[in-house]
Amino acid sequence: MNSSLDINILFAVMLLLHFKGASTELTKEVLAGMDVTLDCPFNKPDHVPLMKITVEWGIMLDEHTMKRVVYTFQNERAKVHREGSWVDPSRLLQGNASLHLFNVTVPDEGLYCCRVIVTPNTYKVSSRLEVSAQPIITLPETATVMEGEERTLMCDIAGFYPEKLTVSWLTQNGSRVAHGVCTGLATPNPDGTYSVSSLITVHAIAGPGDAMYICHVTHKSRPGHYSKAVWLTVQALNEPVFDAITLMAVTSVISVLLVFSIMGGALVLYRYIHTVLPSVSDIIKPSIIYAMKQTELKCTIKSVPKLRELKVKWYRKPANRDCTSASDNQSEPLMSQEDLSDQANIQSEGRHQVSILPICLSVKEDMSQYQCVVLYRGHKITRETTANVKVTPAFLQISSIPQIPKVEKSLVLCCRVEKFYPEQFDLEWTRNDGEKVGSVTNYGPFSDHECLYSVWSKIELVMAQEDERAVYTCRVYHSSFPGPGYKDALYHINTQGTPPSVMFINCEPQRPLLYEECTLNLCLKDFCPEQVSVTWFKEGQVVPASQVFNSPPSLNINGLYSMWTFLKLNPIPEDRSSDFRCRVVHSAQKKPEERIFTLSDLRPI
Ligand SMILES: *[C@@H]1O[C@H](CO)[C@@H](O)[C@H](O)[C@H]1NC(C)=O
Ligand SMILES: *[C@@H]1O[C@H](CO)[C@@H](O)[C@H](O)[C@H]1NC(C)=O
Ligand SMILES: *[C@@H]1O[C@H](CO)[C@@H](O)[C@H](O)[C@H]1NC(C)=O
Ligand SMILES: *[C@@H]1O[C@H](CO)[C@@H](O)[C@H](O)[C@H]1NC(C)=O
Repeated sequence: MNSSLDINILFAVMLLLHFKGASTELTKEVLAGMDVTLDCPFNKPDHVPLMKITVEWGIMLDEHTMKRVVYTFQNERAKVHREGSWVDPSRLLQGNASLHLFNVTVPDEGLYCCRVIVTPNTYKVSSRLEVSAQPIITLPETATVMEGEERTLMCDIAGFYPEKLTVSWLTQNGSRVAHGVCTGLATPNPDGTYSVSSLITVHAIAGPGDAMYICHVTHKSRPGHYSKAVWLTVQALNEPVFDAITLMAVTSVISVLLVFSIMGGALVLYRYIHTVLPSVSDIIKPSIIYAMKQTELKCTIKSVPKLRELKVKWYRKPANRDCTSASDNQSEPLMSQEDLSDQANIQSEGRHQVSILPICLSVKEDMSQYQCVVLYRGHKITRETTANVKVTPAFLQISSIPQIPKVEKSLVLCCRVEKFYPEQFDLEWTRNDGEKVGSVTNYGPFSDHECLYSVWSKIELVMAQEDERAVYTCRVYHSSFPGPGYKDALYHINTQGTPPSVMFINCEPQRPLLYEECTLNLCLKDFCPEQVSVTWFKEGQVVPASQVFNSPPSLNINGLYSMWTFLKLNPIPEDRSSDFRCRVVHSAQKKPEERIFTLSDLRPI
């Protein structure tokens, strides 16, 4: 009996060791933003030339199916599917097909497979890449609270991966704060990372003094922990409140004055410097010109010996676009030019003159052509450019029917992209980051009277058991998006529903006045389905509906809802120390949640 137990334990230990050995060999961990090399040795016979070697690197969905090709090498040609990936061809000749990945990001995580074909042999090597991204923690360094008042501090933790992260609050002596702490759910960001906020509400009972609160974060991306501290100063009631805003205002006025005097100095300096040959740059414009946003076109003129003889003129050939015709052809002869010279101004930047034309274009003025004409001693130098106007979608999100999906029932996801310009766009549905989704129906794009376009894209599926926790992404490519040129809306399948994160009750104004209207407000974040019931109580009595106002639940980009509830009051002396309670009931909660607020500090007018 005893020995059989021992053997079992031994066997288990061996199994454990075996798996541990295998997994450390195959897994590489890397921080986002770093470079990594994944090994792939193969047996290369001496006489085989590069021409005869084929390499394929990809990310696998499972052991047998490839999700995404990363890099291929065939016929001495490389095809880079993931920007910033590389296999060294000279190493290939030594039987080494290692893949270098530069600037690793969260979507790079996965099971990588390298397949090398040296006819007639095929080699396969797999390795797992685990990416982690370090959180950026934001917490004010100092805060003040009046004696007897409450103060809520927020620790904002952004851009981490993987999702698992723990937040706690510690006091100065290292003891953990158990009450008044509320940490939200991690919300996904478009780049695959997560963000979360943690709130602590501190009640300043003790008299004047300082206390430190530490936001303490543990996460895979660092062996120890991350922490940030805030000093909370409790002020006596009759002390004048130190006003940080005034200080900031004074500092910024001083710095603005300083900047102006430096610029003035540069101007004076310029006048003493003369060079010989004038030259004019192309018109400089922002990489994206957004509609109805003030921006500038610039023309830089270098080396002007006699400033007084320099003249810069600006002209525009407006494009008057008609929303109803899809492809606008400017077949009409050039429309009359507008002279905009009096709107432009000239500035000296070091030894250059910069002529700046402020512009603010509507969508209908897309493709307007601008000319910058520099006149100098009878010479005329002309530069031209076309201004393309863009509008980012005002609205991008996924909604689902039904709101809570049910297994084996149909689920319709609708990605709404609304009010963008120009019309050209691309939209792609994927599942679990990578797997393409077929059978997509697009409605639109249709344009409205403002020339803005909207499109709705729909997929319909039957929810399978294994779809629970799957993530569907609607990726929209549009020229109005900076950076990678696309934006994602994510939908997390969740058949359980998500209960609201109930924040704390705040009062507006923070220190209410007797007989003056004030508003208690409470935020409910990230819940689904949208039905939620909110009841306010004053001293245990239900507050009449006429005093309560609820904002309609608004759909977030993550498919969850958020809302605000408000209670309006005109405090009278009897309200002093009254308890206000708000009860929140939602189908995904285990039990109703309540928040309490005490009108402790009522100031007479
Ligand atoms: C293959 O080459 C890479 C550099 O490109 C190197 O880091 C790696 O150690 C090499 N692997 C082997 C097995 O030689
Ligand atoms: C690395 O990638 C991120 C996200 O794509 C990008 O913002 C950053 O500029 C890149 N860094 C370098 C050094 O290329
Ligand atoms: C640490 O400080 C808190 C209050 O800031 C106090 O309640 C607690 O007893 C202290 N713990 C220790 C071990 O001193
Ligand atoms: C405008 O029409 C002409 C022919 O009438 C055609 O060659 C040209 O490609 C069109 N331009 C645009 C932008 O549609």
